[in-house]
Amino acid sequence: MSADPDAMVDGFGRRIEYLRISVTDKCNLRCVYCMPLEGLEWLKRDELLTYEEIAEIVRVMAPLGLRRVRFTGGEPLVRRDLPELVAMVAAVPGIDDLSLSTNAVLLAEHAEALKAAGLHRVNVSLDSLRPERVDAIARRPGSYARIMEGLRAAEEVGFAPLKINVVLMGGTNDDEIADFAALTRERPWHVRFIEVMPTASNLDLSRHNYVSCAEALRRIRALGELEPVGGPTGNGPATYYRFPGAAGSIGVITPMSHTFCDRCNRMRLTADGQLRPCLFGDLQTDLRTPLRAGEPLEPAIRHTLRVKPERHELVQGSTSGSGGLVALSQTGG
Ligand code: 5AD
Ligand code: SF4
Repeated sequence: MSADPDAMVDGFGRRIEYLRISVTDKCNLRCVYCMPLEGLEWLKRDELLTYEEIAEIVRVMAPLGLRRVRFTGGEPLVRRDLPELVAMVAAVPGIDDLSLSTNAVLLAEHAEALKAAGLHRVNVSLDSLRPERVDAIARRPGSYARIMEGLRAAEEVGFAPLKINVVLMGGTNDDEIADFAALTRERPWHVRFIEVMPTASNLDLSRHNYVSCAEALRRIRALGELEPVGGPTGNGPATYYRFPGAAGSIGVITPMSHTFCDRCNRMRLTADGQLRPCLFGDLQTDLRTPLRAGEPLEPAIRHTLRVKPERHELVQGSTSGSGGLVALSQTGG
């Protein structure tokens, strides 16, 4: 823990140095586990933080120990001129790791500008390696081809390490666990399997098609010995393994079967300026009101740290503990 008395440390001694910033609640896909096809209400323009407001929050948090920022959504690249925000945040002293979570549909168009603005790396959601499946999961035809262009662009401009997120869904993509794992032998990709988390809009799926990461690992081990590894930059909730000599690695993210909350190092900022101490639950602190009133933000940030819960209370197949979330796109995933 830090000896710095000003640092952001929560009530359980966890040092908070990572902020996930959702820049929009909108998305150009409708992934079956994430967003309902219709019925979500979008935030209005004046409810969204401006880029200047987001940068101001980062400027306040950096001297308190914030070092790492990730841009998320919804899909962050559907918000206009994202590279401008990246450049503004990259210019804040103390911020040394800047990353983006994206579905990669728009990445080919923006990769160079993002790199020039100071972005270091990207995480890409890719739930299948088969074109028609990707389009069916995303419920938007033509997605696969654009995602592949996006991945190529990410490699060309040198975003590294490249992490691929795969949400495990029984009967949909669990027959590709081995294919994804095998890919890491040749490619320097870090494939992370994620247990599906229940939200109000995916209860059927999260109840009936849940596949644990333990099960995924069991199937991967049938292909060959796995060795535990430290994993690529960006200590997060994943645990990593690799096939000996492989170019990439295999990670598992286990929100359901196992909690990683004791290592939590993050908070979340929603697109409308709510600071959330935990992905799930209904705790949030309004930063937008004091920001727009020209009042200091530090008291609200300190309050959020104080109420940060010890762990999330997600329950398999149930929305209890989810704080009434309809979709993860509402808080930035
Ligand atoms: N369960 C698990 N992961 C989810 N994501 C979105 N919704 C869910 C969910 N219900 C993750 C996906 C995607 C990222 C944006 O959020 O992995 O990569
Ligand atoms: Fe969009 Fe990502 Fe949600 Fe898919 S998982 S709908 S790409 S925000």
